[in-house]
Amino acid sequence: NIEQDLAGQHWVITAGPTMEAIDPVRYISNHSSGKMGYALASSALKRGAAVTLISGPVQCIPPKGVNLISIKSADEMLAACEQAMEKQADVFIGAAAVADFKMKIATDQKMKKKSDSDEIQLTLIKNPDIIATLVQHNRSKIIVGFAAETQNVIEYAKGKLERKGLDIIIANDVSRSDIGFNQDENQVTVITKEKTWEPAKAAKSELANQLVNFIHEHTQTN
Ligand code: C5P
Repeated sequence: NIEQDLAGQHWVITAGPTMEAIDPVRYISNHSSGKMGYALASSALKRGAAVTLISGPVQCIPPKGVNLISIKSADEMLAACEQAMEKQADVFIGAAAVADFKMKIATDQKMKKKSDSDEIQLTLIKNPDIIATLVQHNRSKIIVGFAAETQNVIEYAKGKLERKGLDIIIANDVSRSDIGFNQDENQVTVITKEKTWEPAKAAKSELANQLVNFIHEHTQTN
């Protein structure tokens, strides 16, 4: 039996990629599998938390008892987050790989090939920064972000922790093919204002348990 030490708490977790429409049949997205976010949701649920999982399109099976909200775009993800945390949540974890850009104007008809040109130009604009917005709106007591980096992992992650006003950032090196995107294992560095912690490389499910532990302890001491 697992101790129900998160009973009474509401955890909100984002997972997976976002999908930004170019036109009704095409989109911009990324390779996020959603595995880490779903594993975190499963761990928090097992310890008794009420969990809202706001997910982009993925192949993962939602854990039993989760409140799953499926979205596509970053705008939809932000709206779902704000709604889920109308009453302040205890913990928010942004494990989603939010697309940085969306179409300035998504066309409502399929774009046609132009026979007179080999080039096409799409104008993209920045998506809202979901996690930074939630920090500004004070939607959760503790806000945890992820930082997928290919170089200067710790330094860049620390920058994001500060810039976005997060409590905890979980950094991983996505240039390594054995961990991260679409892999079942992950190795991360957990960074707060006070400390840095590097748990051993582990299955995402096992790592999720350790991360939920760390986050819960952080809520007790801050
Ligand atoms: O993409 P970036 O490295 O800035 O992501 C860091 C953190 O910010 C992640 O937790 C991610 O889910 C979140 N993020 C977000 N909205 C964005 C971009 C990133 O919430 N538009």
